[in-house]
Amino acid sequence: MESSLYSARHLEYAYDWNGKAVPVLRGLDLDLEAGCFCCIVGPSGTGKTTLLNLLGLIDSPTKGQLLFCGEDLTKATESKREQIRLQNVGFIFQAFHLIPTLSVLENTSYFLPLLGHSPESSRKIAMETLDLLGLKDHWNKKPLELSGGQRQRVAVARAIAKRPAVVLADEPTANLDSETAERMIGAFKELQSSSKTSFIFSTHDAHLVSYAKKIYRMKDGRFETEGGDR
Ligand SMILES: Nc1ncnc2c1ncn2[C@@H]1O[C@H](COP(=O)(O)OP(=O)(O)O)[C@@H](O)[C@H]1O
Ligand SMILES: [Mg+2]
Repeated sequence: MESSLYSARHLEYAYDWNGKAVPVLRGLDLDLEAGCFCCIVGPSGTGKTTLLNLLGLIDSPTKGQLLFCGEDLTKATESKREQIRLQNVGFIFQAFHLIPTLSVLENTSYFLPLLGHSPESSRKIAMETLDLLGLKDHWNKKPLELSGGQRQRVAVARAIAKRPAVVLADEPTANLDSETAERMIGAFKELQSSSKTSFIFSTHDAHLVSYAKKIYRMKDGRFETEGGDR
């Protein structure tokens, strides 16, 4: 049997808006196995980013239960979530969140010393990852010297450099031309087969969706269709 990556039950999330709860996720059930390659699709404003933030242990559910690798993290403290996130989760934010004062190489290697890698090893891994994404020649530039698509790939490089158990990506191909998107998907697929990394995306990109093994369609904070295998 495959091992369980995520198991969510009746997951709910509401934002606090001036003291008033604004419900966004309204009871989601989700079971994902390690090594999955799946997409969350649905109209804008439906809660895809909110769900990724819960799966990425950035936010905690308002109600329901969330297990990651068999461990119940529903009520985990922020420092516990942070520790598990550092070791296991590569998160690619829609707005990238690169550090403007650091070079491409420094952004890419950012988490590696925190995971126990030496400076030499961090640099080597980061360079290999940049090479995989076609960014090696830009290693010494600052994010502001890059195009939107290049910045997005640096965000991808930073997420995958630490070889996380799962990569969560919020609309990862949104700023890429089709050739670059193809290259990025190729890098994801390679990692999935070589390291058994799991990938979960939110996307509007039909091309990326066509690679997904499972598709979750969201509407109004619920799944319309629940991850059928294909
Ligand atoms: N920080 C926030 N505070 C209040 N409401 C928010 C916040 N972030 C998102 N929302 C609301 O939650 C809903 C879902 O947002 P989001 O998860 O970003 O959707 P999607 O990623 O599918 O476009 C939207 O109605 C949005 O306005
Ligand atoms: Mg979003």
